[in-house]
Amino acid sequence: MYTKKVIDHFQNPRNVGELEDASAIAEAGNPICGDMMRFSIKVKNNRITDIRFKTFGCGAAIASSSILTEMVMGKTLEEAFDMSKDDIVDALGGLPPHKVHCSILGIDALRHAICDYWRKQGEIDEHPECKKLFVEFKDKPEK
Ligand code: FES
Repeated sequence: MYTKKVIDHFQNPRNVGELEDASAIAEAGNPICGDMMRFSIKVKNNRITDIRFKTFGCGAAIASSSILTEMVMGKTLEEAFDMSKDDIVDALGGLPPHKVHCSILGIDALRHAICDYWRKQGEIDEHPECKKLFVEFKDKPEK
């Protein structure tokens, strides 16, 4: 079953919405269940200074993204990009095995937003880790 932390973040999700003055915005979807996630981030001095998410997703995806926003606030973009589903699952005190994949949706959307920020800054070539993401990114990097 779900931990108290999962239930808390599902019932009282943190940092929901969208930043009006976002440095970057991106979406990701789970092709299997059709759920969607949208992240907007504010970046200053290479650190995430503000973050919001919106989702059309399940409770586990909401709880995962909510706790992810708390975990990455103040982190460098590289630190935030390197967050894994295991970091999220651990922070939530666990997820049922069949819901672990839901924790990836938020990470995916956040990574897309970070890559979009690097692209806007003209720094995309310094981040080969973004190339794989952009394969499915509708807003492809400009040459
Ligand atoms: Fe789709 Fe959880 S069932 S993200």
